Amino acid sequence: MSSSGQAPEAGYRQTFGADATVVGYAPGRVNVIGEHVDYNLGPVLPFAIGQRITVAAGPQSGANITACSARCAGSVTFPLDVDAPAPERTWENYLRGVVAGLRKRGIEVPAARLWFGGDLPSGGGLSSSAALCVATARALLRLADADLPNTEVVLLSQAAEHDFAGMPCGVMDQYASACGRAGRAMLLDCQALTHREVPLTLPGSRWLVIPSGVHHALTDGAYRQRVHECGQAVAACRRVQAEIEALRDVTPALLSAAAGDLSETVVRRARHVISEIARVDRMVDCLAAGDSQAAGALLWETQASLRDDYEVSCPEVDDLIELLRDTPGVHGARMVGGGFGGVLLALVAEDAVAAITARVRSGNYRPRGVTAEPFAVSAEDGAAVVAV
Ligand code: GLA
Repeated sequence: MSSSGQAPEAGYRQTFGADATVVGYAPGRVNVIGEHVDYNLGPVLPFAIGQRITVAAGPQSGANITACSARCAGSVTFPLDVDAPAPERTWENYLRGVVAGLRKRGIEVPAARLWFGGDLPSGGGLSSSAALCVATARALLRLADADLPNTEVVLLSQAAEHDFAGMPCGVMDQYASACGRAGRAMLLDCQALTHREVPLTLPGSRWLVIPSGVHHALTDGAYRQRVHECGQAVAACRRVQAEIEALRDVTPALLSAAAGDLSETVVRRARHVISEIARVDRMVDCLAAGDSQAAGALLWETQASLRDDYEVSCPEVDDLIELLRDTPGVHGARMVGGGFGGVLLALVAEDAVAAITARVRSGNYRPRGVTAEPFAVSAEDGAAVVAV
């Protein structure tokens, strides 16, 4: 087993020379459809995947948190009464944010040691940072012999991203990691923070994750810029119709009425969100009908909208999409997550997985020197920890 795939108990023992008292995991996610909709408070359709961040935790004396990751050399240490991020951008900031969020909710977080491993690639568009936050929150809650509802874990994990990591994300990733259920996607209402489970049964089809080979950097401003542009669209729509709260409430007709006040770019951003919300509804129907062809067609539509209206694609993703469009057995594909690289999600015929993978390798990865591999994903359970 690779070091990151090491059992968390063993990683903890090897690192700290003692036995962990809590072990668990939090999964990454893919989003079937509803991209850049969560911070516009609309519906999204993610599912938790089998690739996870694993965690082992145990108490220590003093008043610090000490953490090690199988992916980074050395350890990080910070005081329990942490109230600010570290001066440099580091993974420790997610942990700092979670500890601050738990304490804000009255949880007496004990001094603790944490070890993280797992097989979830980081920076790849599969929400490794959300999984890290959710795993940390659940492990520390168990160590504190306390509990919080999933919604609180989601919100404090999102706040850790906002306030400690500088990423103004929505709630989708944290929610999927905390609340996933095997065999189901979740139709998550990002305003109400409630979800309905949607069975993911498309007979004869598989979901394939295809890394683009481009490591995305969401905190670099483009994501923040999109959030800002959506806010501008909402403000203009509100001048036409006062009760508008978010783009989820905006119809195409209302956007047209407000368009005179907006740049052409912002109109396109809003058009993506409004059309994407409609595609979420249509996808739910496709899943209910078990219609892979129609579901795949929606993925292509989303990709075009992300590329042309939202402008979060990149040349490497566009090239991969072109190749997939031309590959037998691919029902549809699109990029997932914030954009500018990361991974693609493809809906493919089960019996074509090997041929599609071979074609991606020879027609795209090899010429570009990409060493990643496509892999199939399925819907799995959300985060869990146990005392050992
Ligand atoms: C990132 C963010 C999410 C969501 C997606 C785009 O993954 O963390 O909150 O906004 O981008 O849908």
